[in-house]
Amino acid sequence: MNTYSRLFTPFRLGSVTLPNRIALAPMTRTSAEASGLANDRMVRYYTRFAEGGFGLIITEGTYPDLAHSQAYANQPGIADEQQAASWKPVVEAVHRGGGRIICQLMHAGALVQHNRFVREAVAPSAVIPKGKQLEEHGGSGEFAVPREITREEIDIVVEHFASAALRAKQAGFDGVEVHAANGYLLDQFLTEETNRRQDAYGGSTENRVRLTARVLEAIRQAVGPEFVVGVRISQGKVNDFDHKWRNGEADARIIFEALAAAKADYIHTTEYKAYLPAFAGGGPTLAALAKTYGGLPVIANGKLGEPERAERMLAEGDADLVAIGTSALVNPDWPRKVKAGLPLAPFDHAFLHPIATIREEECALSS
Ligand SMILES: Cc1cc2nc3c(=O)[nH]c(=O)nc-3n(C[C@H](O)[C@H](O)[C@H](O)COP(=O)(O)O)c2cc1C
Repeated sequence: MNTYSRLFTPFRLGSVTLPNRIALAPMTRTSAEASGLANDRMVRYYTRFAEGGFGLIITEGTYPDLAHSQAYANQPGIADEQQAASWKPVVEAVHRGGGRIICQLMHAGALVQHNRFVREAVAPSAVIPKGKQLEEHGGSGEFAVPREITREEIDIVVEHFASAALRAKQAGFDGVEVHAANGYLLDQFLTEETNRRQDAYGGSTENRVRLTARVLEAIRQAVGPEFVVGVRISQGKVNDFDHKWRNGEADARIIFEALAAAKADYIHTTEYKAYLPAFAGGGPTLAALAKTYGGLPVIANGKLGEPERAERMLAEGDADLVAIGTSALVNPDWPRKVKAGLPLAPFDHAFLHPIATIREEECALSS
């Protein structure tokens, strides 16, 4: 029997020691109160993953401000003291279950489906997003055309990320992850098609990654050296799965070097299939490129629910941790099952239809 020795080796991520290399991937479940408060259902939902053996839990994308960052109805926020306080029972329950928990901070940018604070979306440029709104998160039809964000507003976005990170620290989280992937605001800046700016935030890859780097620097300044600060990066987007960086490895080098220079503690890469080459024509995975050019711990995500594949990513040195998404939804005790050699339940996309909210049976506690 495979013992998956690497998956079950402890790992030090910044100032935090994790009992194993298995993370829960961030997954939006739109099950908070309409006011953005985390609730008891979420406490029970997240507890299951900690009790199921996940060493690290990354929360769903959480909005950092009471302005343009909210993307979805019933998405949780950490934009004020009340919202931050509502996360404390989640954090405490995960810690009691033996896990560590990182809050993912997410700004919607143009990909807004519901925002109870403002009526318009902001983005690097006034470009209508590709694709359709996500029905499983309560949307329908086209996205609206966003307004181009001003330089002054960019500075405010940076401050909002930093103050949200500080609130996360005060609420007891072990760290924050800046969501710069999957097509949301920071990824809109990174992407040529959605960023047509002529200023220091547009044009070259160095300029397009600048905002993410500034956010990381501002967070580090706010939370100090001991708090874990990570960043999530992808090529594909929720509204454009097949997007690839135009300059391939040259872009990867600029992006990952910039994130490391901004003093992130880790880089979390996500690809549809994390174990395949990042670019056409073969070559390294995106995770391996992040390790090479960032020189930081890397979390790899994307179809790693097969334990052999996850173990191989670690054994081959592509990544230090793996993040499990959909397979964890149907196996909240994925680590325990894998360790015991028990079969895993297969994930069926019907699980998230018609809506991806947490179902009662997902948060029934064993004890
Ligand atoms: C219902 C659902 C919600 C998601 N929400 C987020 C999110 O809030 N933040 C994020 O970075 N990724 C989000 N993702 C992407 C997952 O983190 C992960 O990248 C994806 O499921 C692929 O990993 P997997 O093959 O292990 O499922 C979401 C995925 C699903 C299925």
